[in-house]
Amino acid sequence: MPSDWSNDGRGAGRAAGRDLFVAPDVTGGRQAGLERALREAIRSGRLSAATRLPSSRALAADLGWARGTVAGAYGQLVAEGWLSARAGAGTVVAADQRRAAGSPPPAEAPAPRAPRYDLRAGNPDVGSFPRAAWAAALRRVLRDAPDEALRLGDPRGRLELRRALAAYLGRARGVAAAPERIVVCSGFTQALGLLAAVTSGAVAMEDPCLAVHREVVRAAGLPIVPLPVDEGGARVEHADGAAAAVVTPAHQVALGHTLAPERRARLVEWARATGGVVLEDDYDGEFRYDRQPVGALQALAPEHVAYAGTASKALAPALRLAWLVLPERLVEPVVEAKRLADHASPALEQLALADFVESGELDRHLRRARARYRRRRDALLTALAERAPAVEVLGIAAGLHVTLALPPGAPPEAEIRAAAAQRALALTGLARFWHDPAGRPPHLLLGYATPPDHAFAGAVERLASLLGDLMPAASRGS
Ligand SMILES: Cc1ncc(COP(=O)(O)O)c(C=O)c1O
Repeated sequence: MPSDWSNDGRGAGRAAGRDLFVAPDVTGGRQAGLERALREAIRSGRLSAATRLPSSRALAADLGWARGTVAGAYGQLVAEGWLSARAGAGTVVAADQRRAAGSPPPAEAPAPRAPRYDLRAGNPDVGSFPRAAWAAALRRVLRDAPDEALRLGDPRGRLELRRALAAYLGRARGVAAAPERIVVCSGFTQALGLLAAVTSGAVAMEDPCLAVHREVVRAAGLPIVPLPVDEGGARVEHADGAAAAVVTPAHQVALGHTLAPERRARLVEWARATGGVVLEDDYDGEFRYDRQPVGALQALAPEHVAYAGTASKALAPALRLAWLVLPERLVEPVVEAKRLADHASPALEQLALADFVESGELDRHLRRARARYRRRRDALLTALAERAPAVEVLGIAAGLHVTLALPPGAPPEAEIRAAAAQRALALTGLARFWHDPAGRPPHLLLGYATPPDHAFAGAVERLASLLGDLMPAASRGS
């Protein structure tokens, strides 16, 4: 990236007041000292090609020198090829100057190119992020927020957002929420880390689950107990002996099941009996298509279940906004852990989300997103039924992805993903989700929300043709 992205023809004016750290040794005279200092800064890479320097007037004022001295140094360095000066563009570090000493700064590897067809699980369709409505919410916040909002505030987060979330979560997810029990976090990832920080003892985690979540718990120094998963969701009897259990009751993240009513009851009983904490990861609870929404487990036992929601699926993961609704006894330790982690999450974004929720924009966005994802899911299921009928599709009722259980004789996941990559199609395998992937049958997770609208049909066509080619002959569709 160029060091100045405001290359818009107005650069000279903007450059005029730019800060430049320079501490010339003036023993042999000011101008010569400034020339040496600038040469050295360019040679070492501290001033990179295309960096704009302040105007000679501004730098002279900063140094307390006559302008002619700085202008003389700039002129000399232009003549030597270190700097270039163009009318209207100010004085910039020349692109082709050769560094006499030192090695060039290491080039950052370019970001990998996004695959043309992306059905990896994990993202909403960020192309349909409600930019205009979000920008309007941010504008309102910047106009109306008191100056106090720009100071460090309550580590739990802005009261405006906690109030809006308490009302929204009660209404839309059946969570028993009060603003003082909510802690706004930097994504579920941080929420999990904060809870791990205040837990002593083993953490029971679904097997399969997101690998990064195991890493977060391990990084907190806690042992992990696997909770096997079947059609009824996590087998909660395996939590015995753990201090906490992390579950995805509405839509098991890897296999798509809903936690069965008797398991919900049993998990709550376990927490009540042992003093263990359940962390309910309601990451995609807003997206349910065919059946009545499944309410939050937390409502059954708010003093034993910590509820976690996130904006990562409902809006965009890059917002890094999530929320914990905590049992009373955990509020103080978690708030303290949050204070030590980063004091509080960014206030302006929190206020924008509060505005977004209260103005009804979140509900409007979710209704539109649900309709879009449902259409996509239906198209995907139709294509799979026609072209790969032996593949079992799991977790279709909710969320932004489905899971494919591949038939006996199917190639290993890695081979399927490599063959998909040859066709510019990116897929997620289940291997990394298992606590121990050895001997697990191949599965794929298909994120049907991931591609932008214009690429969705192409991605499904590629997937169907890939599975048609790779599945054992006896199991192929027409
Ligand atoms: C199971 C699960 N929980 C939570 C999240 C959200 O994490 P975060 O809020 O840190 O983006 C995801 C996102 O992919 C997820 O798959």
